[in-house]
Amino acid sequence: MSRLSGKVAIVTGAAGGMGLATTRLFAEEGARVVATDVQAELLQKEVGAIDSTGEKVIGLVVDVSSPEDWQKVVDQTVKKFGRVDILVNNAGILISKGILETDPATWEKIIAINAAGVLWGMQAVIPTMQANGGGSIVNIASIAALASGSVADAGGVAYGASKGAVRSMSRHAAQSFAKDKIRVNSIYPGPVYTPMVAKMVGTFEMAAESLKDLCPLPPHIGEAIDIANGVLYFASEESRFVTGAELVIDGGFMTQ
Ligand SMILES: NC(=O)c1ccc[n+]([C@@H]2O[C@H](COP(=O)([O-])OP(=O)(O)OC[C@H]3O[C@@H](n4cnc5c(N)ncnc54)[C@H](O)[C@@H]3O)[C@@H](O)[C@H]2O)c1
Repeated sequence: MSRLSGKVAIVTGAAGGMGLATTRLFAEEGARVVATDVQAELLQKEVGAIDSTGEKVIGLVVDVSSPEDWQKVVDQTVKKFGRVDILVNNAGILISKGILETDPATWEKIIAINAAGVLWGMQAVIPTMQANGGGSIVNIASIAALASGSVADAGGVAYGASKGAVRSMSRHAAQSFAKDKIRVNSIYPGPVYTPMVAKMVGTFEMAAESLKDLCPLPPHIGEAIDIANGVLYFASEESRFVTGAELVIDGGFMTQ
């Protein structure tokens, strides 16, 4: 398959979960990918398993909360592959604390990675996309940006606020850079079985069982590839007239 033939992508949070599934799928679809994460060893292992030659997929250590790291990764991507067509802002962390329990350090850490990390990423790639005549940015938010109740309890206040910021910035960037043919779309995953969730709930079966009254579509929890398939649509030319769109991939969670 070659839905991304000729395209160059940067994916953040690519050492595991949705970022890794997206990197694999993009490589299968013909893209050259710069996979980034803070977990250096795991990243190199996973990237090596996708492309041991380093010709099409490379791994770079990037902390998304650092504007300096962003400038370096964009420079290195352009040096290695000549351009940046696609940015997937996927990296994120979850620290679940309620309104009365959230301390300044928790708030600042989550906002720095989940919200500011998306801003610095867009800021770093947009000039090179403008110079190339366009591009596609896909920001991973969460249904925590859309819902209260059980979702807000599970994610905590800072997480939900950070994902609300991703929603707002995605629409803002879509409006501002449509003139440059830069499309910006966002995705709202419901529960998806990744290392982030495994840490909280145990096995896939345990997670599915605990979600069966909340998430109506069996198996009641998604897999990383379910999100990667949505990212692929926004990254590819199939969505060439789509910007500012918000795609919920949640097994029906939000129908409650
Ligand atoms: N899993 C879910 O149910 C779910 C639901 C809604 C939204 N999301 C969002 O989807 C995205 C991917 O989540 P996942 O479930 O695959 O999580 P994950 O924890 O499995 O993977 C996230 C990756 O981001 C990396 N990362 C963390 N901090 C970073 C930083 N400062 N700079 C660069 N990389 C960093 C981690 O090392 C990790 O490899 C996140 O933004 C998350 O908030 C997940």
